[in-house]
Amino acid sequence: MPTVRQFLTRVVSDAFEKCGYAPELGHVTRSDREDLCQFQCNGALSAAKLYRKSPMQIAAEVTDKLRDNPIFGSINAVPPGFINIILDDSFLAEKAFEMLNDERLLLPKAEKPKTIVIDYGGPNVAKPLHIGHLRTAIIGEALKRLARFLGHIVIGDVHLGDWGLQMGLIIEELRLKQPGLVYFDENHTDEYPEEPPVTLEDLNSLYPEASLRAKNDEEFRRAAQKATNELQNGRRGYVALWRHFLSVSINDLKKSYKKLNVEFDKWLGESDADKYVPELLKILEDKKIAYLSDGALVVDVALPEDEEPVPPVIISKSDGSQLYATTDLATILQRVRDFNPDEMWYVVDNRQAMHFKQVFRAARRAGLVDDGVGLYHTGFGTMNGKDGKPYKTREGGVMRLSDLIETVTEAARRKTAESETAADLPEDERERVIEQVGIAALKFGDLINHRTKDYVFDIDRFLSSEGKTGPYLQYTVVRIKSVLRKAAETGAESGEILPPENEVERALIIRLLGVGDMLLRAFEEKAPNIICEILFDIAGLFNRFYFENKIITNPDEKRRASWLSLLELVSKTISLLLDILATDVPERM
Ligand code: ARG
Repeated sequence: MPTVRQFLTRVVSDAFEKCGYAPELGHVTRSDREDLCQFQCNGALSAAKLYRKSPMQIAAEVTDKLRDNPIFGSINAVPPGFINIILDDSFLAEKAFEMLNDERLLLPKAEKPKTIVIDYGGPNVAKPLHIGHLRTAIIGEALKRLARFLGHIVIGDVHLGDWGLQMGLIIEELRLKQPGLVYFDENHTDEYPEEPPVTLEDLNSLYPEASLRAKNDEEFRRAAQKATNELQNGRRGYVALWRHFLSVSINDLKKSYKKLNVEFDKWLGESDADKYVPELLKILEDKKIAYLSDGALVVDVALPEDEEPVPPVIISKSDGSQLYATTDLATILQRVRDFNPDEMWYVVDNRQAMHFKQVFRAARRAGLVDDGVGLYHTGFGTMNGKDGKPYKTREGGVMRLSDLIETVTEAARRKTAESETAADLPEDERERVIEQVGIAALKFGDLINHRTKDYVFDIDRFLSSEGKTGPYLQYTVVRIKSVLRKAAETGAESGEILPPENEVERALIIRLLGVGDMLLRAFEEKAPNIICEILFDIAGLFNRFYFENKIITNPDEKRRASWLSLLELVSKTISLLLDILATDVPERM
């Protein structure tokens, strides 16, 4: 289904063609001067240069062809050659009603769906999630849902960090604590126990202890490196142990992600790329692009036009151990084999920009992907404290994600108590509302910013019921739902949407009809903040409309029915967009 803007582009392009000009000139955009018109076409200005005529004359010829079309309220040529378009109110009403009755709200669906792997989350096994994992989860989930809604085939892969040195570290730390465990006995040939030898708490303390020890104890560090190599080479006891670590850790990760409404399609990890490493090495050798430098195997990826030095990618070190880049290259092979994607998006911190630049260039040089396959580092900035530095705990440490969610929920609890939100609800429902408000505050505090920008964590501002916040949107939807419930109770029925009666109503309909274009732009730019902006636009207009007009008590039955439909449309649209941003809305609050 084309958007209204796309439809207008077609109509205006036809007119350009009929007047003897190239149809591409008929490109229509939303107006940047809403006080003057709703849509505009600037094609006559470009046409003037191509056809050596005055732009006003061309604009006039084109508008003359269109003036009789009933979809236009007015279509005018204005100096120096713009075409200004205002749609007819009946056309707006008709379209809005059509939108309400369409399952997908007339929103666009890709004609040629792409297969897209989105790599986000990126937690590390045995290390608890911390706030560095927040943005990738929130942004990645939104992008995944957006792409999927637009009809693409999307694979959201958590890409667990489950194969690095941290595994050897905790294996060795566990050996110090429980040397008698059967996993360490090299002569053990039977099955290993099904019960994990560690609890989640054990696991959470093993890593920090081990990493501290490794800093001060050279021998321990070497042992951990050796254990990592042995694990990677398939030592049975270590693999069994590793599986336990993995399952204990994944269980916990799933719980944390659930709180954020984040769901992965695939729980693959760095370990799943391991079996592609030999093939990767073979390709690099066949293509003769890897060479030894100080004992390490490296691939050059610098280009003459680089403005900053791009160091070679290190594939393996002199002791044979593999690195982060090796895993990412092997993962590209794995993804090509398993999913044959058109695009791979890596929703990872901006600070890894150089890593991805190197990896992507090496992948291209090695021909791991076809030229047409898009590799994108969809980077993001950091969440900072009020001091402008990455957000820390009071003690200055890295904050666990679960503690952050706890902090936010507590703040939401205080705030809802103050404002007596959800005060009349039963205890468990109120508790649920508090959680939903807290998470929405956190998510919108994040998503409203362009992903590449840093932002300041300010929970009081995020929780405000005014301004561009999650709770503001939740209040708005709850308000609409409550009006619709009341209407249903009084027996007021909704009906056909009538041509708008006032400016705010008209502007609201225009916004609703523009959602499709905005979704396409958000997808193109991989920018969920665009979805936030439409949401706040629609909610703001709706709230004005609601306060300025009598809806349920409107004496004109047809108008009332029309407005109830409009409310339904607003509610459906906002709910759909919130769902793309993986944000829940309470039924009442
Ligand atoms: N586990 C990594 C980290 O904590 C993030 C992984 C991102 N994805 C990737 N394919 N490199 O930094």
